[in-house]
Amino acid sequence: MPLDRYPLTNLPTPVRRLDALEREIGASSLWVKCDDRSGGPYGGNKPRKLEYLVADALRRGRSGLLTSGGIGTHHGLATAIAARQAGLRAALVLLPQPINDHVRESLLLLHAYGAEMHLAESIPAVVARTGCLLSAAALRGEPMALIPTGGTSALGTSAFVRAGLELAAQVEAGMLPEPDAVFTALGSGGTSAGLIAGLRAAGLRTRVVSILVTHLLPPSRRRLSRLANAAVRVMRRHGEALPDLRIAADEVEIERSHLGGGYGVPTESGETATRMARELEGIALEPTYTAKAFAAFVAAARSGRYGEHLLFWNTFSSIDPRNGIDRLPEPHELPAPFHRFWK
Ligand SMILES: Cc1ncc(COP(=O)(O)O)c(C=O)c1O
Repeated sequence: MPLDRYPLTNLPTPVRRLDALEREIGASSLWVKCDDRSGGPYGGNKPRKLEYLVADALRRGRSGLLTSGGIGTHHGLATAIAARQAGLRAALVLLPQPINDHVRESLLLLHAYGAEMHLAESIPAVVARTGCLLSAAALRGEPMALIPTGGTSALGTSAFVRAGLELAAQVEAGMLPEPDAVFTALGSGGTSAGLIAGLRAAGLRTRVVSILVTHLLPPSRRRLSRLANAAVRVMRRHGEALPDLRIAADEVEIERSHLGGGYGVPTESGETATRMARELEGIALEPTYTAKAFAAFVAAARSGRYGEHLLFWNTFSSIDPRNGIDRLPEPHELPAPFHRFWK
């Protein structure tokens, strides 16, 4: 039986040539995969994963989704929005991270979308609080589905195996040349792992360069290869026509040089890259993930090290999530533990 999907996306997302960036840095074949508009009212890489995770929760009769992340988590916001679309509750366990306006707005949006918000001060505290909330919900007879951080499980990752196949179909259709390398931000790893497997399954030679943006439980090459293989197994078990491939850890490329001061800490090269993306190509990036990934992409295009045809996979939603709410709440309307982020 094929995997269930709760529709949250509008696929395939377009690919586009970055002519102005090419002219600016003297490169000849730069492209972007526009996942920023993958769905609404939230795009980016999350809806692709969530449509399988939400369908699974519904199939199992769960009444809500529970997940965790930094206080500015895009994944948490996308999960809260998806839950609302599917008529489910959403609860989030949130870990402090460097504060900026983007993070503050994410907190307000979570509240506006009706998510139940809990603050935990460390990763062990996140794990403990998550366990308590899951047990309490089950005891009340309203069990919640645990959505892994970043939506990255074998099932969530399977969505990016399909995304790799989607890009391969666009290459096949002549919409872009076969990329020598795809650049994408690496958080929990589902995006990268799925793309590696999907591109390989389609027979492309394209390398996937994963730009590490987190020092908090950073995924290893081994973890990414296991995830990729687990995603392929899930899909094959459900009858999808995929070759029985094995991704080895040494086929995974992780670029660590753009992490800077750690998760959520902006870098100078990221800020420069964000300005170039906006001014030359009208692409909006954020500091935690895509600024660092785009900086790596620009550096690669300048150096010529990865070949001629390079593609940036834009994982950040460019759809304004305020479109889906009546108004942004005031900070004092949030649960009390979150007030400190406005002091
Ligand atoms: C904008 C953006 N890009 C990339 C990522 C990382 O994706 P993954 O967790 O699949 O590695 C995230 C995760 O939250 C994100 O919000």
